[in-house]
Amino acid sequence: MTNHVTIAEMGPRDGLQNEKRPINVATKIALVDRLSGCGLPFVEAGAFVSPKWVPQMAGSAGVMAGITRREGTKYPVLTPNMKGYDAAKEAGAEIVAVFGAASESFSQKNTNCSIAEGFERFAPILEAAKVDGIQVRGYVSCVLGCPYEGDVPVAKVVEVSKRLYDMGCYEISLGDTIGVGTPGKARAMLRSVASEVPMAALACHFHDTYGQALANLFACLEEGVRVIDSSVSGLGGCPYANGATGNVATEDVIYMLEGLGMTTGVDLAKLMDVSRWISSELGREIGARVTKARTN
Ligand code: HMG
Ligand code: MG
Repeated sequence: MTNHVTIAEMGPRDGLQNEKRPINVATKIALVDRLSGCGLPFVEAGAFVSPKWVPQMAGSAGVMAGITRREGTKYPVLTPNMKGYDAAKEAGAEIVAVFGAASESFSQKNTNCSIAEGFERFAPILEAAKVDGIQVRGYVSCVLGCPYEGDVPVAKVVEVSKRLYDMGCYEISLGDTIGVGTPGKARAMLRSVASEVPMAALACHFHDTYGQALANLFACLEEGVRVIDSSVSGLGGCPYANGATGNVATEDVIYMLEGLGMTTGVDLAKLMDVSRWISSELGREIGARVTKARTN
């Protein structure tokens, strides 16, 4: 099994979407460019969602227009419906992402529709993307628990993941949206999904609310996952998951992977500089343990 792990950097999207203070487009562009400058292969640059629902992502077209696209880095954006897809295509997105959930209540709160209605919105996106040569990633939220329903049946996670994969998503990102998972549960969930969707097409997207994300990722790496979603300085949180903190910090993931003899192609020292810079821009404490330990 390969020792290389692909890091999907979430900072400019999942990381910023919940920030209450307005962040100007220039700062977002600088963040994306600094992140790609660290060698990150995948920097989620924004979301073409309703600005009434998530005001912070309103400037995503400006971000896509202003970034300097680096060879070797992809800049996916979220697209909940065809309106978002059309705008993402116009902005030159090479990858878009649809996002569903394994929990009905979360689907309603996050996207104002049921899980089934969500699939009806995704179908034309996948059809259009095929014609346009755009890749589609699929997110599944609440794979280890829901802020409204509590426990979520693994069978539902498997069903939603398989359906997204069968529709044509090239990769399914399994989201522990509120960070409640523990390693045994994360491993069992991943194993179940991998019985229906190839492991090579799965990613782990763990928020660190309960401090379990690294342990959960370690268990999933042992199972064979090789794509990890994370956010510089651990920025972020979902606006429709009260109390949920950011994604696991990218620096902490890379430090762990390097210790395990695994490679990412990302320059950790440079990334820590980006983490210090964005934390100071946002007036936040550094959210990565590794960066904190190496900052005076
Ligand atoms: P709705 O209100 O049901 O949509 O929202 P609608 O079709 O009835 O339209 C209402 C208004 O929104 C209209 O404007 C539309 O034009 C506009 P009006 O006529 O009232 O002026 N609209 C849009 N504007 C811009 N871009 C669009 C768009 N679509 C409609 N694409 C909708 C439904 C899905 C749009 C809304 O609920 C929404 O935008 N939700 C997004 C929520 C979101 O972004 N959540 C965070 C990302 S998901 C996440 O963080 C989880 C993840 O990280 C994984 C994990 O951690 O689990 C991925
Ligand atoms: Mg998330």
